Amino acid sequence: MSVIDEIKDRIDIVEFISGYVPLQKAGRNYKALCPFHADTTPSFVVFPDGQRWHCFGACTTGGDVFTFLMKKENLEFSEALRLLAQRAGISLAPRTEEQKEEDEQHRLLREINSVAAQYFHHLLLHSPQGQVARDYLAGRQMSEETWRAFQLGYSLSDWEALSHHFTAKGYQEADVFAAGLTVERESGGYYDRFRGRLVFPICDDRGGVVGFGGRALDDSLPKYVNTPQTSLFDKRSILYGMHLSKGAIREQGRAIIVEGYMDVLMAHQHGFNYVVASMGTALTENQVRALRRLTKSFTLAMDADAAGEQASLRGLEVVKRHYGVEHRQSPEVRETYQHIWLKRYVDANIKVITMPSGQDPDDVIREDPKQWVQLVDEALPLMDYYFQVSAVDKDLDSAQGKSALVHQLLPLVGEIADGIERAYYLQKLTRLVRIGEKTLAAEMTRYKSRIKAGMPIADDDLSPIFRPSFALENYCLSLLLKAPDFIHEVQWLTPDDFLAVENRSIFLALLDAVQREGAFDFGQFRAGLDPLLAQHLDAVLEDEAKGPALPDEELPEEMRRTVSRMMDRNDRRELEELESLLRDAVERGDDESALRGRVDSLRQRIHERQKESGGRNA
Ligand code: UTP
Ligand code: MN
Repeated sequence: MSVIDEIKDRIDIVEFISGYVPLQKAGRNYKALCPFHADTTPSFVVFPDGQRWHCFGACTTGGDVFTFLMKKENLEFSEALRLLAQRAGISLAPRTEEQKEEDEQHRLLREINSVAAQYFHHLLLHSPQGQVARDYLAGRQMSEETWRAFQLGYSLSDWEALSHHFTAKGYQEADVFAAGLTVERESGGYYDRFRGRLVFPICDDRGGVVGFGGRALDDSLPKYVNTPQTSLFDKRSILYGMHLSKGAIREQGRAIIVEGYMDVLMAHQHGFNYVVASMGTALTENQVRALRRLTKSFTLAMDADAAGEQASLRGLEVVKRHYGVEHRQSPEVRETYQHIWLKRYVDANIKVITMPSGQDPDDVIREDPKQWVQLVDEALPLMDYYFQVSAVDKDLDSAQGKSALVHQLLPLVGEIADGIERAYYLQKLTRLVRIGEKTLAAEMTRYKSRIKAGMPIADDDLSPIFRPSFALENYCLSLLLKAPDFIHEVQWLTPDDFLAVENRSIFLALLDAVQREGAFDFGQFRAGLDPLLAQHLDAVLEDEAKGPALPDEELPEEMRRTVSRMMDRNDRRELEELESLLRDAVERGDDESALRGRVDSLRQRIHERQKESGGRNA
């Protein structure tokens, strides 16, 4: 995560802005008189879901916590960065000698992992000894394309093959050990950790190898050997397959979390690229964080057996903590606030797939991909899943059974903020235990009054999901940097059209540079940027370079097209925000005609643009 994302992650925009402007909660969102123009009606809105603000009055612009502070205090990006970092408790101080050493050590460990991955991969593809692993994979119907995509490997049945490979290349034994690839002998020296195994490199979300899992090729135990915790590798903060799934998860707006390496391989082989694995452990907070940046729709695919159910519930505990409660709060506060988790769950749209007994996703997909699609389609919303699991061990014909079920589920039902949904589950519970709805409702009121103290502000509504894609504006920026003078041709493009504060700031600097006399000098331009912005710029250009090369003569047209798509995206975002406000207004019985008018005209504009571009922007 970039420092900027980390800062945004830690600062809540509602809390931040309310330090400057008194905010009024109006449904899901917050309103105020706009601090940037003389406002008479509250036209300034803060959207907690998108963590953004927008002025629908004279400003007709918006942004995030960075742009708010920059505008409000008239600050440069780097000044705002320093202030916000401080507030978020993130250190931006130049790296100390010690940290530099640590950076260097990380770089070395990454290099060693990458060398090892290539070594194992080569053995799998080409060595005679690797035949056993090739046969194994073929037997499990893994295609060669899949081996290559995941850079699978084979480790020789030898105590020192890998160690020798490294010493021959001039690496220090201690460094190879630090990477977790060898084990220390009691008598001194080291031996290979992975021997005679099918090897799965585990990558961070940018595709760098940080560790390995190795599967036995027969029934010997342990089934899997994994890289231990190293200064580089923390199994609990990585999802296997993330680097290959990111795009699909973002595009499709959902992620499916399975347990095993093999499940991910088989899923991807069949084009289900939105699948990642928690590698056998309960989903952790860091894993959830990584996913949440891509989507708010998670589906957990869990084993049918009881242990599996428990594992999934444990996994959900984490999601619960993540959504429900801020980490910085004390344990006591956390306990008190705990029950809001369910609402947050629902917001996060969490579903559960129960696998057919004795099968994991790998089996299902191999045997019948259609069945997998069906299981995914039939995934149960978390609440229904809870109903199912809770009822399993209870005799619903007995008074005790009924009472136990009610006491388990009623508190959860009580936490559902959406009235209609709450009524639905209350009825469902009524039917299940065949007890009058009135009795249950009374029970629920009793429960609610007990927990009322300490309850946070009730949320009112299911949140819309704002998912602006920064890829498009990153790309736009990279095009502009290829031919900065072209900036004049797309004059309607303004800094505020860039939603990511990094892009906005770079665009501003670019405008400035182009307007100055003399030829544009990239090196000089980059050197003039805040180091964090320069870093972001490098990443953007690197991404762009991965795409197909664009002939110079197509640049102008491509740029116009890209800018037009950006305008379209921004309109759609604004539409989402307006629709969220409209929902608030309808629910509160406020006058909504003006809002409706704006929604309609914005829809019209989007529609017309779409017609113009022949549907290209769709
Ligand atoms: P599974 O036992 O379900 O393995 O463990 P699998 O991935 O389905 O493998 P196959 O199909 O039997 O070959 C699920 C995950 O738990 C972790 C691994 O990440 C594995 O993929 N695990 C399991 C371990 O780390 N160590 C173990 O000994 C077992
Ligand atoms: Mn399996």
